[in-house]
Amino acid sequence: MAGKSKTAKLIIGANEIELPIHSPSAGANVIDVTTLYNQAGVFTYDPGFTSTASCDSTITFIDGYKGELLHRGYPIDQLADKSHYLEVCFLLLYGYLPTGAELEDFEHRVTTHTMLHEQMMYFFRGFRRDAHPMAVMTGVVGAMSAFYHDSTDITDSWQREVASIRLIAKMPTIAAMAYKYTIGQPFVYPLNNLDYASNFLRMCFAVPAEEYQVNPILSRAMDRIFTLHADHEQNASTSTVRLASSSGANPFACIAAGIACLWGPAHGGANQACLEMLKEIGTVDRIPEYITRAKDKDDPFRLMGFGHRVYKNIDPRARVLKKSADEVLELLGIEDNPLLQVAKELENMALNDQYFIEKKLFPNVDFYSGIILEAMGFPTSMFTPIFAVSRTVGWISQWKEMIADPQVKIGRPRQLYLGETLRDYVDIENR
Ligand code: CMC
Repeated sequence: MAGKSKTAKLIIGANEIELPIHSPSAGANVIDVTTLYNQAGVFTYDPGFTSTASCDSTITFIDGYKGELLHRGYPIDQLADKSHYLEVCFLLLYGYLPTGAELEDFEHRVTTHTMLHEQMMYFFRGFRRDAHPMAVMTGVVGAMSAFYHDSTDITDSWQREVASIRLIAKMPTIAAMAYKYTIGQPFVYPLNNLDYASNFLRMCFAVPAEEYQVNPILSRAMDRIFTLHADHEQNASTSTVRLASSSGANPFACIAAGIACLWGPAHGGANQACLEMLKEIGTVDRIPEYITRAKDKDDPFRLMGFGHRVYKNIDPRARVLKKSADEVLELLGIEDNPLLQVAKELENMALNDQYFIEKKLFPNVDFYSGIILEAMGFPTSMFTPIFAVSRTVGWISQWKEMIADPQVKIGRPRQLYLGETLRDYVDIENR
């Protein structure tokens, strides 16, 4: 816990209560209300946790007004440019940039855990072919606790380490198999001489009937998408993982809970929703109609890929991805992609519109990722599973940090009860 230098005074009627203020290494000070109920008999009320720090953490920091995202202090644009996904995984998990030997060892451990227990193949077959891959992933990852019993004891640090490596290593295999299953193609097993991103592309796009050559441009773009989504401090799915884990649940169950939460369109499901929206808009001349709809309070439509709870400036990940989208489409020879034109013009119009300016609504990571993924050949239903693959390391790093904290308590929010007060049961004939 960071320094406790100042205190806040809260006056409730005749009572004056003193609460400690913790100073973080970066970001806003935090008033510690843990003793509030005991001191004053009141709770705080904060639906959606808009002003509540749920934990202390040393992993990721976002300055929403500057549009800055740091992992262990390193800015995301430097990591996206100079590093790669597995090195960022190491950084998130262990807190520092690895030496050459440490990275090699880590990559070896991940690479040699990418296969799934063969019995799990039958588990996939229980799903309908038209199931959304996120539904399949939620089920299969939850089922890992039925296959890997030797890494479910959260009190054993070695088992926690094994579970972490297994999850990071097997998640691309599970996502790729979920995809292959929905299109009726045979599963493609991982190949150990490929890097993480290339292996994933091969497992998604190779077929046994043909040789498959990984395109290094696409592999680099894939790695960058993984890197940009790796962690994002206490977002909804990460908080879900922490809350699930606070009860002592096993890591596979907790990560399955995170995947379920990520699926929603306000969170990881936004990349699919955003690309579908860009396709629906279709041409630049139709953009004003959609901007008008997004501003209309009586219309539930929102510009997908716009706005963020924390960023009140451009999402730094969107900046990197916009550049990436240009590069990938140019290298694939499809730079006149109509969706990219619609996206750029939509961004331009929204950024100059008073409604979006006043509400500080800027493009987020999902605005450009779908365009790149579609150009790479992924269907929209795979966008959120790819987000889940990337975010697994963030969930695990936060889970490990939480388990290692001796102060950890089961998560148990209070409520502002507005229902009926005590009343007597009425027999059915008297209602
Ligand atoms: N289009 C139009 N209006 C919007 C949008 C949008 N995309 N986002 C927020 N607003 C308005 C909203 O109507 C509200 O207006 P008012 O103050 O008049 O009621 C105001 O801006 C504040 O919005 P909010 O919903 O109270 O803010 P929030 O912090 O609860 O929600 C959000 C953040 C990301 C859920 C929201 O901006 C949104 O629904 N965006 C679209 C979905 C999306 O792109 N999600 C991906 C987030 S980034 C990836 C990830 O982390 O998962």
